[in-house]
Amino acid sequence: MTVIGARPQFIKAAPVSKAIRKYTTEILIHTGQHYDHNMSRIFFDDMGIPVPDANLEVGSGPHGQQTGLMLERIEDRLKESVPDLVLVYGDTNSTLAGALAAVKMEIPVCHIEAGLRSYNRKMPEEINRILADRCADLLCCPTETAVRNLQAEGIKKNVYLTGDVMYDAALHFRDIAVRQSGIMKRLQLKEKEYVLCTLHRAENTDSVGRLTNIVNALIDSEAVIVLPVHPRTEKMLLQSRLMERVKKNGHITMIPAISYLDMIRLEMSAGKIVTDSGGVQKEAYFFDIPCITLRDETEWTETVSDGWNCLAGARYEKILDAIHSFHPVSKKYSHYGNGRAADIIAGHIARFLSIT
Ligand code: UD1
Repeated sequence: MTVIGARPQFIKAAPVSKAIRKYTTEILIHTGQHYDHNMSRIFFDDMGIPVPDANLEVGSGPHGQQTGLMLERIEDRLKESVPDLVLVYGDTNSTLAGALAAVKMEIPVCHIEAGLRSYNRKMPEEINRILADRCADLLCCPTETAVRNLQAEGIKKNVYLTGDVMYDAALHFRDIAVRQSGIMKRLQLKEKEYVLCTLHRAENTDSVGRLTNIVNALIDSEAVIVLPVHPRTEKMLLQSRLMERVKKNGHITMIPAISYLDMIRLEMSAGKIVTDSGGVQKEAYFFDIPCITLRDETEWTETVSDGWNCLAGARYEKILDAIHSFHPVSKKYSHYGNGRAADIIAGHIARFLSIT
């Protein structure tokens, strides 16, 4: 049984579900954490992800309530289906709920994207990933750093370096995106002449100070900026009245959240990417686009040590300066596997369950 619920998990499930179904049956459970068409359904349609067997319709809410509702409803599904293994991805509340419900019922847990750490315990995602790793029986790590992080915490059994399934997805869908996405034309964008920006982390959106610094830097940069807006960010921009200032600005184009194909199409042709998303930092690296990260630390440390990612946090000067003058000079290395991570993971699961 696979438990997914938030946008990045749909992207990761696309290659993995396909690979797993070569060995065994999969029950796909959508928690309903993300529910807007543009945050959920569009990914299933575009990426050919199987229709979920159930949607738990948990929706939004405070962390305890959202996670608690998921826990209760996932437990019901586990009782009904009694799967041999529960598969969870990443670091969202859906990840934690899936892992916790399963481990309490003595059902083995496989965690994909295990071992990542930001060492910032104020991030809900950090707590979710630490706990998911503690619950997991099979830990699939995207990078060597992730394997080392687990070793340092004494987690060594059934830990595998598999590569990153987001790299698999990027390689598979990039040509399809170039063929099918009309977003460059629709927004009248020119190759390398715009900055793509995404912003949604609670640490940025829920702090008026940080959000104001970021928005001011984007406005004052006078760069052509495309900003697909996450629903959380839209709410906070409205509440803080920053929305009017962004809208009045001639060089920032705000659009609703977009599909995976449109997103990677925009990433590939961007001059620079400014983001606080983990996935987008990596995609910038995959596509050779300089990235400015709106966080004080990152789990994807390789992108920084290779010189392709600059950590600007929510510091006005640093963001502004990086938009104009950050240029990677160093070589990129292949830290994220060979594009076959999903097959490698499916193989480990099959061996774990003795179904090879
Ligand atoms: C979640 C994950 C984060 C991941 C991100 C990807 C947690 C703790 N965080 O954050 O790790 O990077 O997803 O997007 O699980 N909303 C809508 N429509 C939707 C979904 C959300 O309007 O389809 C609004 C809700 O009102 C909610 C807010 O966005 O208040 C935030 O949603 P939430 O589920 O808390 O998570 P994200 O911020 O998206």
